[in-house]
Parts: sequence; structure tokens; C-alpha cells
Amino acid sequence: MSIIFNDREMTLTLQTKHTTYQMKVDNYGTLLHLYYGKRVDDANMDYLIRYADVGFSPNLYDTGADRTYSLDMLPQEYPSFGVGDFRNTGLQVQHEDGSRAVELHYVSHEIFDTVYGIEGLPAAYTEYGQGETLAITLRDSASDLEVTLLYGVFEDTDMITRAVKLKNRGSKRLWVEKVHSICLDLPYGTWEIVHFHGRHNMERMFERVPLAHGTFSIGSRRGTSSHQHNPAAIICSQDATEDNGSCYGMTLLYSGNFTMDTQCDQMNQVRTTMGISPEHFRYTLEEGEVFHAPQVLMTYSDHGFAALSHRFHHFIRHHICRGRYKLERRPVLINNWEATYLDFDDDKIIEIASQAAELGIEMLVLDDGWFGKRDSDDSGLGDWYVNTKKLKGGLAPLAAKINDLGLKFGLWVEPEMISEDSDLYRTHPDWAIQIPGRKPARGRMQLVLDMGREEVRSYLYERLTDILTSAPIDYVKWDFNRSITDFYSHVLPAQRQGEGLHRFVLGIYELLERLVTRFPDILFEGCSGGGGRFDAGMLYYTPQIWCSDDTDAVERLEIQHGTSFFYPTSSVGSHVSACPNHQTGRTTPIHTRAVVAMAGSFGYELDLNLISEEEKKQVRSQVKDFIKYDSLIHNGTYYRLESPYDNQMLTAWEFVNPQQSEALVSMVVTHVRANWLGLHLKLKGLKPEGKYRIQWLPAEETTDEQGDVVYSGAALMYGGIAMPMLSGDYPAIQLYLCEIESD
Ligand code: DGJ
Repeated sequence: MSIIFNDREMTLTLQTKHTTYQMKVDNYGTLLHLYYGKRVDDANMDYLIRYADVGFSPNLYDTGADRTYSLDMLPQEYPSFGVGDFRNTGLQVQHEDGSRAVELHYVSHEIFDTVYGIEGLPAAYTEYGQGETLAITLRDSASDLEVTLLYGVFEDTDMITRAVKLKNRGSKRLWVEKVHSICLDLPYGTWEIVHFHGRHNMERMFERVPLAHGTFSIGSRRGTSSHQHNPAAIICSQDATEDNGSCYGMTLLYSGNFTMDTQCDQMNQVRTTMGISPEHFRYTLEEGEVFHAPQVLMTYSDHGFAALSHRFHHFIRHHICRGRYKLERRPVLINNWEATYLDFDDDKIIEIASQAAELGIEMLVLDDGWFGKRDSDDSGLGDWYVNTKKLKGGLAPLAAKINDLGLKFGLWVEPEMISEDSDLYRTHPDWAIQIPGRKPARGRMQLVLDMGREEVRSYLYERLTDILTSAPIDYVKWDFNRSITDFYSHVLPAQRQGEGLHRFVLGIYELLERLVTRFPDILFEGCSGGGGRFDAGMLYYTPQIWCSDDTDAVERLEIQHGTSFFYPTSSVGSHVSACPNHQTGRTTPIHTRAVVAMAGSFGYELDLNLISEEEKKQVRSQVKDFIKYDSLIHNGTYYRLESPYDNQMLTAWEFVNPQQSEALVSMVVTHVRANWLGLHLKLKGLKPEGKYRIQWLPAEETTDEQGDVVYSGAALMYGGIAMPMLSGDYPAIQLYLCEIESD
């Protein structure tokens, strides 16, 4: 049992292998939060709760003359607005009389021996019904609002999921103005926050800041989770490093507007709440109606960031991603975007595919521009019919030719968008999100479809099904290239417009669910101008996401470093592109570009006909290497050895297989020096007593001397390894380590 109810002490405890989470129903029916941290067996942690008479912190009416009981001070599981807790709360509701108070009291709880799912929203699952759920029912003291707090316990993986369900059990209408999915109170300690900010072409930049009094808030009001703030963050102790210290990681399974607010209060207590952004959100609950807030994954590590990341990687790969390609090796692909942009025809695509096939690449992905009137990016979106001027005869003959070359065929789409210059817009202008009487802001000269509308989703399902059955298509890249502004839905009444952006997200999920069910063998890759919708919610439908439109290998070091804190390597779409790089103008060796792209789901994005014979030779061997090491890279444990933020000279990372008998180490030198001794790296995750033979990659270029070096795991981890002298711009090295039998 990983969920334990003690009816004498009224505690509810969630136990995982290494962590304990505890709460308690107190004498007034308040659900207090007692503890979350390193595992403590059989302890009642309520001695940690402190009561004090604090000026201007109100006392609950039921506590009578006791002035020491204030919701303003107490750690709680799910604080609500209006009844004396002036900190950030999880829930704010307006009642029919206009008042806004909710005072939640424990009613009952149930324990289930499987993990919960959420209607219409992504949720962590187990293959064979393992896991447990705790559902705690709370009720407002003066209305018929029922709140169910859901906790999914994944004991072996130390992961706890949380979600909230609201139900209006009365006959009076309610308006939900804020419903966050999680509250985590940390009454003790001095904490810092690690979060991942960015912009288009520079997503998930690592930033670590101490918490000061007040609220540190991240979020998105762009309609998607956004390039600017990823819906994932870590609250960590001041001494936390990769391998030491306390940290709590949280990520939201939601692809729309969100906020995560971390507050340090008047008593230096820290509270974090996370969920759908309350801005532009107001959800009407009529009698009997239910609202589901999205799920949050959380874990606690007392061994720093690496252990935390390992748990998220494993969990997202095994309990969030689904479908055939969840664990199956993904084909090495060539994408034509940076090779041709919108200027191509079928002959050009075949030319690119032929060269790719010769070099061992396994799939061609035809990017934007194959449909409608799409010679520039200001038209055509919505007209999902093949442009037969570019592709004579349509998709089927092109796909057949590509298949004949031995390649699979993949296709780009951007279903949620509409160009004003499109037949779809001319027929259904009201399908686009825009406010009557106002001119909508354009983004990339396009508007967004109202995905909350059934007829919009039906049109897209019908069009996409038609396309996906018209040719042998093995992969779909699902793009989204602007933020949402001017929100208005033509099908919602005025008082329900505040539901529209959430209904939009539910609409995307519904359409994706229908498509992944209809086409179980297609690999879906998410994308939003790169990683503008890189979140665990999307990974439920698309097991990989194009990480960034910035394909510069040096920039990618930072982007992929930030991404690695929560998301597994298999989820990171990463390509070798041309140099000078199209985003930065920087030139890096093709070997370096491949080493960086191999920390992801690997591919190429350039015209391979234009590279030198020597580079082609390298590509051939890179593809072979990636296929050879795919399992080590995607199933292995990922270690950040040197961070691009801390180390001005190099960035390094390592994959170790579960048996710790093989490792792949990658290092990129970002600043070569004159007159130096070379670089040094300490490895991680090896067996101290194991003996490892080291091979430098590519194997063909390894000298006999280099190929015959054997060190112990202890030597490599504690003493490290001296890297050879490297020169030139951004050189990279890869080492493959294999344990040898000891004599
Ligand atoms: C943005 C994507 O991130 C690119 O890779 C490419 O697919 C373009 N859109 C196409 O418009």
C-alpha cells in the first residue's frame, strides 16, 4: 500500500520508494499539508505545524476564541480565496449573489488501486493497472461546491500526480475564476527556483534565482504553453547541485495558458501553486456540472537535479508518451525545410531524398508548402489539398518514389491555423479567432482556428484523414506558428467567452486523440515554431517535439541543456543543418553538429547534395553511429557533466545504459584556447569497480593507441579523463565506453 489512512490521527500519507507526502484533516476539517520530502516511515509529522496569534491574520469563525488558528499561516493542501488566507490560493469562485468566498472542509476520501485518468485531458498512466489513487472530497461550508483533490501515486518511480475536479452539486450557478491544479506549501527552509524562460529560437534557458518576499511568477498568456516560459520548474535548496541537495520538480500537463506562482510569505514560508492561468478564464458551472483542472507531475529528490531529471525522463517516456513510437527507435530523417523553405517541387524533393538514401538516412519529411496556395507564408493555411503545381500527381506518387529509394515518408501540417488568403477563410471567416468589430493582430500573417468548435475539428479530421490515407505516410510534424490574440469564439455566449481558451486546448487534445487512435503507426512530432509548445501535455499525443527553430549547434547546447531538466532525450527533435547556420551565421564542423543533434531524436535538415565528399563520408558514419547507439541514448540515464551556463570552455553530457556497462560521452568545446593543457572531464554513473575500454568516435578514425585504453569506473568518475588537445572552431568529441570482463 502506498496510500495510508490513519483514522485515529486523521493523517493521509503517500509513500513512494524514496519520498513521503503527508497531510492531515484537523479538528476544523481543514486539510493541512504536513510534509513532503525524503521518506519517513510511520511518522506523524503534525508536530511541524505551528500556531500563533499573528496580528491581521484572521481566525476561522469555528475556532471561537482561539486566536492562534489562522488559514493565513497554516500549510494547506488546497487553500481557497476569501476566508482569511491572504497568500496565493488555488481556488477562486464567484457565487450567484456575487460573493467570492470558499471555505473548504474535508468530507471523505477514497483510495483506488489504479491511477486516475482525466476526461478530455492528458494524464499519466500505467500499462498494467499499477499505481494507486487517493481522491479527497472537500466541500465549501456555505455553497454546494464540491472539490475533489486527486493524487496518483507511482511508488517505484517516486512520482506523484495531482489534479483537481470541481462539481457544482447545487442548483445555483457558480463561476470558477481560478482553479490551480496544485498547491505545495514549504513552511521551512530557504529556497531558490530554477525555471526555463526563452523566446522563439531560444527556448528553455536555464535560470536559477533566490526567492525573495513576494511572488515569483512564470506563465503564458499566449494560448499555448509558450517559448517564453516552460510549464515546469524546480524549487531547490540553496546548496542544491546536480548531485546534492533538496529539490522539488513540478510540470504541468497542459498546452495552454498557465501560471506558476511561488510566494515567500510574511513568515518566510514558501507556497507554490500551478495550473491554468486565471487571466482570461472564467468557467460557468451550472447545476451538476463538472470542471477538470489539468494534471501536475511532481517529485522530490534529496540528491540534486540529476536524480530529479532521471525520474522525469523515465516517467515521461514510460507513463506519458504513448503509441508505437513510445519506445521504438525513430527513423533518422531528412527534413527539407532549411534546404528549400517553400520553394520546391517533386523533382527537388526526390533529389534531396536520393542523396539522403545513399547516406543511410531512413525517412524524408516534406515540410511546409506542399498544399493549397503556399508559395509564401502569407497564404494557404487551412486548404489541406495537395498543390499539384508543386507535386505533379499529388502525394501518392511522390511518396511511392521516396519509398522506392528505401525511405519512409513524412509530412508537415499546421492544422490549427488559417490564412486570410485561403479558400477556407473565404468560406468560413467565423472559424477564425477574432473579435467582431476589431481588426485582429496577425502573427506570421495568419489567424488561429477556434479549436473549441466541433465543426472546425470535424473539418480538420476529415481533411487530415483524407491526406493520411492518400499516401503511405509514416510521420506527421504538427506545427503551430503564432500566439493567440483577440480571443473570441463565435459559438460561445458572452458570459462563457472566458472558457474559450481552455476549450481551445481541449479541442486540440480531442482532435489529436482521434488521429493518434485512427493512425497508430504514424509517428507524430509536435512543433510550435520549434519548442513553443514543448510540454508534457503535448507529449501525451506526440512522443517527440521539434526542440527549437534554432539549429545552430552552439545555441542548441544551451537549449538542449535546459530542456534536459524535465524532458527525455527521445522527446527532443534535433537536426544537423547547413553552415553558415541560417539563424546565427555561425560555422561549426559537421561532426560537432551531429554530436549535438544526437542528444535527441536525430535527423538532418539541409540539402545533402551541397556538402563535400568528406562531409558525406561523415554523415554516413554519423547515421550508422546514431542507429548503433540509439538505445543507449534513448533508454540510457542522462548526465549533465558540464553546463554551458557554468563552464565557458566546454559543454559535456553522458548516457549510461541501465546495466552501467556502456556509456556514450559527448563534449563540445565552446572556447578553444592557445597554449593550454587541454580539457578534463569527470564521468558519472559508472560502476566504480568496472573496467571500461574507451573508444573515440567515429570508430574508423580511432588510432590503435586510443582504441586500447582501459580505466576503472572509479578512475573515470573520481579522477576523470584527460581529453586530447583540440583546436579550431567548436570541436567536439564523443567517447564510447564499454565494460570489459575482468580477469
Ligand atoms: C516552424 C517550424 O518550427 C519549422 O521547422 C518549419 O516547419 C516551419 N515552421 C514551416 O513553416
